[in-house]
Amino acid sequence: MKRMLSGIKPTGQLHLGNYIGALRHFVEYQDEYDVFAFIANLHCITVPQDPKELKKNLRDCVALYLACGLDPEKATIFLQTDVKEHAQLGYIMNCHTYMGELNRMTQFKDKQSKGEKNLSGGLYTYPALMAADILLYSPDYVPVGEDQKQHVELTRDVAIRMNHRYGDLFKIPEPLVAKVGARIMSLSDPSKKMSKSDATNKGCIYLLDDLKTARKKVMSAVTDNLAHVHYDPENQPGVSNLMQIYSSLNHEKPFADIEKEFDGKGYGDFKKAVADSVCALLEEIQRKYNEIQTSGIIEKTLTDGAAKARAIAEKELDKVQEAIGMEII
Ligand code: TYM
Repeated sequence: MKRMLSGIKPTGQLHLGNYIGALRHFVEYQDEYDVFAFIANLHCITVPQDPKELKKNLRDCVALYLACGLDPEKATIFLQTDVKEHAQLGYIMNCHTYMGELNRMTQFKDKQSKGEKNLSGGLYTYPALMAADILLYSPDYVPVGEDQKQHVELTRDVAIRMNHRYGDLFKIPEPLVAKVGARIMSLSDPSKKMSKSDATNKGCIYLLDDLKTARKKVMSAVTDNLAHVHYDPENQPGVSNLMQIYSSLNHEKPFADIEKEFDGKGYGDFKKAVADSVCALLEEIQRKYNEIQTSGIIEKTLTDGAAKARAIAEKELDKVQEAIGMEII
């Protein structure tokens, strides 16, 4: 069985972009692949965090993985900090990643260009830690949204380089980026990615938003005055983004079929249909989320997942340490 690995950073609440771009694929693939889905909490402290919030978000993130349909009987679900090999291999990967490579990472460049002050060294080097996250488990595929593809490509470059230097150490993973929904944009500004750091809070639908709030966000999404539902990201970015969401939540309905469905209808009807799809999804996720909170399944999932992940990660780290000629005990 081929292996797949991916993770989500639990800073703030998970949102619809995380679900459409990543989480739903972990769920889809769990029958066919050996899925490793982890919570990337080491990555959280690359930016300042409130310790209490951090713990709560972590639990919520596991609960949401399960509520979205990840099944701990099929997939290995674990916390990054339960497997210390991530930090250990992270350091080694850091020493094999060139500054020139890190300088090209668009996420860091974006933050820098916005003039954000006091960016941490951890944020700058986080793609090296991400490479460790991936390579510890020798996955065939890494399903991610568009914004993380560059980091998986860097992982491949560094892994290939280390294989040349030390012999066959790593399996070279492939990024898996879906054709639809890999970059969901903000509802209030479709030129920006939907993200946890949405200052206005209007453009981002959180998976735990109450249904009324979520509906309101969709109904007030920015569109245009062309008044026809047509897929054209350049000239109709808002409408095209809503089409991406609608398609993703309706069995990848082709854009041409969506255009036909809303031919001659106004944006009000279209937005209502998108809001109905979003609310149906959120309702189902939240119902399961509430059951999960009181079931004790979160703790068991993490204990079992950590044991399975550790066994694999330990072996891989041993192999790497032996190859480079040092052992971190
Ligand atoms: P993170 O937490 O920012 O995002 C988690 C996943 O959600 C996808 N995503 C989106 N997809 C579509 N539209 C959006 N607006 C959107 N926003 C986020 C991301 O592409 C990602 O797949 N560094 C990673 C976490 C990580 C990781 C890893 C992932 C750490 N180690 C190893 C894969 C393998 C991150 O910060 O993702």
